[in-house]
Amino acid sequence: MNFDFIRHDVNEQKTKSRYRQLVCNNTTSQGNQIVINGKSYLNFSSNDYLGLNNHVEINKALQEGTDKYGICSSSSSLVTGYHYAHQALENDICQWLNKPKCLLFSSGFAANLALFQALGKSSESHFYLDKLSHASMIDGAYHSKAKVKRFNHNNIEQLTTLLSNATDSPNKLIASEGVFSMDGCQAKVFELAQLAKAKQAWLYLDDAHSIGVIGNEGQGSNYFADIDITMATLGKAIGTSGAFLTCNEDLHEYLVNFSRHYIYSTAISPAIAWATKKSIELIQKEHWRREKITELSTLFAQLLAPEIELVSTKSSIHAIIIGDEKKALTLSDNLKKQGIWLTAIRPPTVAINSSRLRVTICANHNTKDIKYLAECINKAIA
Ligand SMILES: Cc1ncc(COP(=O)(O)O)c(C=O)c1O
Repeated sequence: MNFDFIRHDVNEQKTKSRYRQLVCNNTTSQGNQIVINGKSYLNFSSNDYLGLNNHVEINKALQEGTDKYGICSSSSSLVTGYHYAHQALENDICQWLNKPKCLLFSSGFAANLALFQALGKSSESHFYLDKLSHASMIDGAYHSKAKVKRFNHNNIEQLTTLLSNATDSPNKLIASEGVFSMDGCQAKVFELAQLAKAKQAWLYLDDAHSIGVIGNEGQGSNYFADIDITMATLGKAIGTSGAFLTCNEDLHEYLVNFSRHYIYSTAISPAIAWATKKSIELIQKEHWRREKITELSTLFAQLLAPEIELVSTKSSIHAIIIGDEKKALTLSDNLKKQGIWLTAIRPPTVAINSSRLRVTICANHNTKDIKYLAECINKAIA
């Protein structure tokens, strides 16, 4: 058969308990519930950290944006796709994060590929990536022409040594996630920023899981230090779709002129850009959403059996490491029987023998949900 590997590779996934399947989410109004195959579950796998998806004011702004600018941008940004709604959103993001420039992308994955490809123009560029960086950062870095080095997770000492040895590169970029997607732990943002400055490197942070959740106004990593380049998806805490990247004027101009992912792609929906403006307005002023995540996360850690350890974090993400793929899947299935939706995360998303339950605690959960979750997990794991 042509492309024999297709069947072979999928079968291999099944034998390794790594097989993945699409499940159709039939939930009609989002919240802390998810409906799958007609059954309702308490959802602890959502990235809607602030509970803003389907927010009445954001939905209203989406309708207003649709009426004013249309759903579709109808072109790439450099042709005629760059609308007032995009410009207004970029300005709001620049003010929020105190940055000179912002550029919108269709997804966080595309933004990461774009950035690494643009800065990795030749082997004169050296990229230093935290080992737990997201797949899109790794793909972006390795598909560029730059030299790529990976440093052990959050290991500033090793990163310092790597940078000290790199006297031959004029272009150095340190890259990390602000909050690590599968672990929930936070990058040492302040130290990274200081080191970048000392070594004349730029610091790039993927704030997909920090934006909205970290910082007094949800500004993510920029709350701790002035980050040279920040990327954040709009599809998690912000509750819409797309991504943004903030940077200086020169890099902005360069990306507009040379980034293939930006130039040759339809601009994001102007209606969604308009709705995102509203979401960011709510994120800045509704502190209770972040406070709720902290309060419920603290309760969850207190209620778990002592042998279940969680990493201390201000994020919504709490990883319970199980190890074996099959065991993680069985636990996830057991929890489903108790009405809890908690997807098992397995390799290659995480390292072999580190399969886990990745719990996300969101602002639309309540004390009762958390008590029930902890009770079921304790029973299932004990
Ligand atoms: C850390 C990180 N970066 C980038 C992305 C990609 O963002 P998007 O979903 O907007 O493509 C994700 C999303 O899964 C992510 O977790």
